[in-house]
Amino acid sequence: MSYLMLTFTLIIAVLLIIRKKMKGVSCSVDRDMTGEVVVITGSNTGIGLETAKHLAKRNATIIMGCRDMQKAKQAVAQIMQETQNKAKIELFQLDLSDLDSIRTFVKSVKSKFDQITILINNAGLFGLIEKRVTKQNFEMIFGTNYIGTFYLTEQLLSLFKKENQNRILNVVSYIQKFDSPDYSFFDSNKKYEHIKAYFQSKYYLTLYSLYLNEQYQDSLNLKSVSIHPGVIDTEITRNLCSSIKIINIFLNSFLRYIYTFFIKTPIEGAQTTLHTALINFNQLAGGKYYKECKVEELKQITIKYAKETYNFTNDFLSKLKY
Ligand SMILES: NC(=O)c1ccc[n+]([C@@H]2O[C@H](COP(=O)([O-])OP(=O)(O)OC[C@H]3O[C@@H](n4cnc5c(N)ncnc54)[C@H](OP(=O)(O)O)[C@@H]3O)[C@@H](O)[C@H]2O)c1
Ligand SMILES: *[C@@H]1O[C@H](CO)[C@@H](O)[C@H](O)[C@H]1NC(C)=O
Ligand SMILES: *[C@@H]1O[C@H](CO)[C@@H](O)[C@H](O)[C@H]1NC(C)=O
Repeated sequence: MSYLMLTFTLIIAVLLIIRKKMKGVSCSVDRDMTGEVVVITGSNTGIGLETAKHLAKRNATIIMGCRDMQKAKQAVAQIMQETQNKAKIELFQLDLSDLDSIRTFVKSVKSKFDQITILINNAGLFGLIEKRVTKQNFEMIFGTNYIGTFYLTEQLLSLFKKENQNRILNVVSYIQKFDSPDYSFFDSNKKYEHIKAYFQSKYYLTLYSLYLNEQYQDSLNLKSVSIHPGVIDTEITRNLCSSIKIINIFLNSFLRYIYTFFIKTPIEGAQTTLHTALINFNQLAGGKYYKECKVEELKQITIKYAKETYNFTNDFLSKLKY
C-alpha cells in the first residue's frame, strides 16, 4: 500500500474513533412505564421532546411544561402521530423566567393530578449575548436554568408520594471545577458574562440535585441525579446564531454536514436522561452526576455546599415573598 493510502486510511480511522466518542452510548434499559407520571420541562423541542416521545411510547403519562405553546402543540401532535394516538399527554404553559408563571403551571398540574413520580428538569437557556433579566429581575440565564428550576421543583415536591419510587432528573452540562458557589450571581447588577452565567447555573443545579437526594431519599422515597447529555445538535445555539452571524453561516452551509457527522442528534442526546428514567430504582445512584449512562464523580459537588446554597436560595426567594 502506498504511503498516501496508508495516511488516508489512518485519517479515516481517527475520524471514526472521534465520531464514536462524540456520539456516545445508547440507553439499553427498557421498562413498562404504565402508572408513571412524568413532568418534563422544555419538551417542545430538542432532547426534551425526544425524552417525552420515548417515555410516552412506554405508556408513561407525560406532563409537558413548555413556554412556546405553538411549538408545544406541534410537538404533542408529533408524539400522538408516532404513538397511533395512544400517548397520554397533558400540556401546560410554563415560563421558567417568571416565578408567577411557575406558580400557575403548578396549580394546573395539581388540579389534574394528585401525584407525579418523575420530574425531568430539562429546559435550559444558553448563549444570550446581550444581558436580559427575568420577570423578578434575576439575570436571564441564571434565573431560568437555576432559580426557575429550583422554584418549580420546590413547588412540585408535595406531589411526590412516599409509597411510589420517585425521581428528579436535572439536565445540567459539563461542570467546571469551581472552588465554591459564587453568590454574586443572585445580583442582577453583576458584570455579565453569558458563558459564566450558564456554567454557574448548571453548577448550582448539580448541587441542588445532591441536596434533594439527601433531604428526600427517606422521607419521600426520592432519588435525584444530574445529567450531562453531551454535545448535541439542537436549538440550544439559537441565541448565538442570531447574534453571531458567522455561526449562522457555518451552521447553514455544507459545513453543517461535517458538524452533524460528529455531534449527537437529539435522540442520541436524550440517552442518559432515558437511562436514569428507565433504570431500576434500586440501581439509580442518587445524588450522583451521570454522563454517557454512567456515574462520574465530581469533587466540587459537596454536601456542605449543597446545603449552603439551598439555604441561600431559599432565603433569597423568601425575602422576595416567593
Ligand atoms: N445541546 C447541547 O449541546 C447541550 C449540552 C449540554 C447541556 N445541554 C442542556 O440540555 C437541556 C436541553 O437543551 P437542548 O439542547 O434540547 O436545547 P433546545 O433545543 O434549545 O431546548 C431547550 C428547551 O428549553 C426551553 N426553555 C428555554 N427557556 C425557557 C423558559 N424560560 N421557560 C420554559 N422553557 C424554556 C425551550 O423552550 P422554547 O422552545 O419555548 O424556547 C426548549 O424547549 C438544556 O438544559 C441544556 O442546557 C445541552
Ligand atoms: C403499554 O400498555 C399496553 C396495554 O396495557 C401493553 O399491551 C403494552 O405492552 C405496554 N407497552 C409497553 C412498552 O410496556
Ligand atoms: C441551613 O438552614 C437550616 C435551617 O435553617 C439550618 O439548620 C442549617 O444549619 C443550615 N445549613 C447550612 C449549611 O447553612
